[in-house]
Amino acid sequence: MLKVNHLRKTFGPIQAVNDVSFHVERGEVLGFLGPNGAGKTTTMRMITGFLPPTSGTAIITGHDIVREPVPAKKQIGYLPENAPVYSDMTVWNYLAFIATIRGFTGCQRQERVGKTIELCRLESVKHQAIGTLSKGYRQRTCFAQALIHDPPILIMDEPTDGLDPNQKHVVRMMIRDMAPQKAIVISTHILEEVEAVCTRAMVICNGSIAANGSPADLKTKSRTYGAIELTLSSMPGDLISKLQQLPSAAKVETRDHSVTIYPRDPKQLFPDVMGLVKANSAWPLTGLKALDGRLDDVFRNLTQAREPAATR
Ligand SMILES: Nc1ncnc2c1ncn2[C@@H]1O[C@H](COP(=O)(O)OP(=O)(O)OP(=O)(O)O)[C@@H](O)[C@H]1O
Ligand SMILES: [Mg+2]
Repeated sequence: MLKVNHLRKTFGPIQAVNDVSFHVERGEVLGFLGPNGAGKTTTMRMITGFLPPTSGTAIITGHDIVREPVPAKKQIGYLPENAPVYSDMTVWNYLAFIATIRGFTGCQRQERVGKTIELCRLESVKHQAIGTLSKGYRQRTCFAQALIHDPPILIMDEPTDGLDPNQKHVVRMMIRDMAPQKAIVISTHILEEVEAVCTRAMVICNGSIAANGSPADLKTKSRTYGAIELTLSSMPGDLISKLQQLPSAAKVETRDHSVTIYPRDPKQLFPDVMGLVKANSAWPLTGLKALDGRLDDVFRNLTQAREPAATR
């Protein structure tokens, strides 16, 4: 559905996007992660034809966005960063205006606007001026604008930025509901959102792809993946040394009444620790838990080494 081939963008001395290639199939929701200034928005602007690439291109359902921008753009819905919308128009009039630009007329236009208002749950505010809407409704109006022509490809730049937890939930549900029929790319700084809606996540840092995989795959790169945490009512004298001697343990850390054992061999660590616990039944154990990997840990490892480029 969407193929991105060697995209690059330079702004004077700033290399904002540096040889980015990936593809997205129908049914996939790809999450762009990356620190501020990583190049997420610039990549999205090039894919949607808002910004010409310095080199490379994006193929949208077979149409090259650089060489065939009109047919390519027909296949895309785009929710830009900060939801730019005309604040003095009502929701209905704004969406009717966008529908006209997208080539709908007469009853077909009315029908598209009505359906999209229903889909984006804007019924209660459809005759209100956009400038008087709360941020959640304003964001959803911009979301509706991206969906009016029911595009097969949807590009959304921080779709839940600044929304309250209920509004975030509504937007995520809408994305999830649409996902099977579309190829979707979203950018976000909210790592829990990646786990909630994305089938794949791509970490971008300084304009390049630092990682690309399912959220579960990425979590296996976390320091805590496969680690085991023991909690005890008091710390037995032989506990640490016995844990450190396990060949499957890389490192043992203690804090108050808990001990975290990091794996050298994630598959073997759990049976080894269980064996040790059984053999030392006098240890006053109150809890044992296998830790999952953490996306924020992976994100920091991949992106902290390099400072993002300067300013816009
Ligand atoms: N029009 C422009 N002129 C000059 N530099 C720009 C322009 N647009 C973006 N940049 C620079 O390109 C780099 C990438 O910016 P971009 O907005 O793509 O980052 P981002 O990953 O979307 O960041 P954020 O998470 O803050 O939204 C930054 O260094 C930015 O300052
Ligand atoms: Mg951005």
